[in-house]
Amino acid sequence: MAETARQPFIDEFPEIVAFDKRYEEWNSRVSYFKKNDGIPGGRISIEGEEKINFSTYNYLGLNGDKRINDFVKNAIDRYGTSVSSSRLLTGEIELHEMLEKKIASMLGTDDAIVFVGGHSTNVNIIGNLVGPEDLIVHDALAHNSSIQGCILSRAKRMHFKHNNMEHLEGILQRVQGKYRRVLIIAEGVYSMDGDICDLPGLIRLKKQYGALLMVDEAHSFGTLGKCGRGVTSYFGVDPKDVDILMGTLSKSAASCGGYIAGSTSFIRFLRYNSPGFVFSCGITPPNAAAAYKAIELFEEDPERIERLHENSEYFLKGVKALGYDTGLSADSPVVPIIIGDSVKTLEMSQELFKRGVNALPIIHPAVKEDEARVRFFISAAHTREDLDETLEILTSLRDKI
Ligand SMILES: Cc1ncc(COP(=O)(O)O)c(C=O)c1O
Repeated sequence: MAETARQPFIDEFPEIVAFDKRYEEWNSRVSYFKKNDGIPGGRISIEGEEKINFSTYNYLGLNGDKRINDFVKNAIDRYGTSVSSSRLLTGEIELHEMLEKKIASMLGTDDAIVFVGGHSTNVNIIGNLVGPEDLIVHDALAHNSSIQGCILSRAKRMHFKHNNMEHLEGILQRVQGKYRRVLIIAEGVYSMDGDICDLPGLIRLKKQYGALLMVDEAHSFGTLGKCGRGVTSYFGVDPKDVDILMGTLSKSAASCGGYIAGSTSFIRFLRYNSPGFVFSCGITPPNAAAAYKAIELFEEDPERIERLHENSEYFLKGVKALGYDTGLSADSPVVPIIIGDSVKTLEMSQELFKRGVNALPIIHPAVKEDEARVRFFISAAHTREDLDETLEILTSLRDKI
C-alpha cells in the first residue's frame, strides 16, 4: 500500500502559530470576550460588576424592551425557535412577510428581503450581483462585509478617499465605458468614525455616470431621519434613487439579520436566486419577531430617537470641550476618541474599564496606527448621569494619556 504524505496539522499553519504568539502578548492587555450578564443597555453587568456601557450598538435601547420580549415569546409559542427550512421550500411564515413589508414601507422602497445575518447579507449581495466584467468603487472606510463581498464577486475593485466626491468622480470619469456595470458602495453612518455619507453627492454621480449605488445602513437605520428611516430621510432624498439599500437588524432593531430594500423586480430576483437566501434556512421566528416589533416601535415611540440624538450631541460636545480628538464624528451615535497609538489606546480603554466605563479600543490593523481610538456607541438608554460620569472620568484621564 502506498505511503500517504504526512498532512500538516492545522495547528502548525504559520498564521495559527503566529496568532498563538500574538494572543499570548495581547491577552494580558485586552480582555476581549468579556462575559456580560443581562441586557446591554446604558449600563452593563460584566463579570459581576456594573459598568457604564458604550460598546454595544443597542442604539435605541430597545433590546430587552418588554413589548418586544412579549411579542417574541408569542412568536416562539406559535412557530418555535427555527423555521427549519429554506423559506423557498417550507420555511416561510407570515412574520417574514410582515417584517419585509414593514421595512419596505418604512424606507419608502417597493419591497425588501431579509437574510439571517448582516455581514452575510453584504457578502451575498455584492458577491453575486457583479462579476469579473464589472467594477466596484467603494469608500475607503468600507466595512469588512462589503470587502468580502467584493472579493467573492471577482469584480475589479477600487476605493475612493473617504467621503470624497471629487475623488469618486475622477475614478468614474476614468473608467467610463470600460466595464459592464459599475457599483458604488457607501455607508449611511461610518461605524469607526461616526460621520454620514454625502448621499446627495453620491446620487448625483451615480446618475451622471450611469453607475449603481448601494448604501449600507447598518448604523443609520433607526438612528437617522424621521422615525429612524435612515440616511435617505435624513437628506430628504428619494429612496428609489439608491438602487440597493442594505441594513442590519442587529443594531437599532434589537435582533439579528440583514435586509436589502429596493425595486419589486430586484427583490423578487433575490428571493428566487440569491444563494445565501435560497440555500439557507430562513431567519428564525424570534429574530423576525424582535425586528418587526422594534421597527414598529421606531414609529410609535419616536422620542427614543430624539433622546438618542440629544445624548449623542451632548456627549460629543462634552468630549470635544475636553480637547479630545473626535475626528469626523457629527450628527451620529458613534463617537471615537482618537489616540493615534495602539498601546496608549489599549491603556486608555483599560483605565476607563477600571473606573467603571466599558468602551472598547480599535487598534491597528482594524484602523491605521495613527488612527487608533477608543470608540463610544451612544444609546437612548444612557441617562444624563451616565454621560456626565463618563465625561468626568475622561477629564481625569485627559493628561495621563
Ligand atoms: C457597516 C456594517 N455593515 C455590516 C455589518 C454586519 O452586521 P451584523 O453585525 O448584523 O452581521 C456591520 C457590523 O457591525 C457594520 O458595521
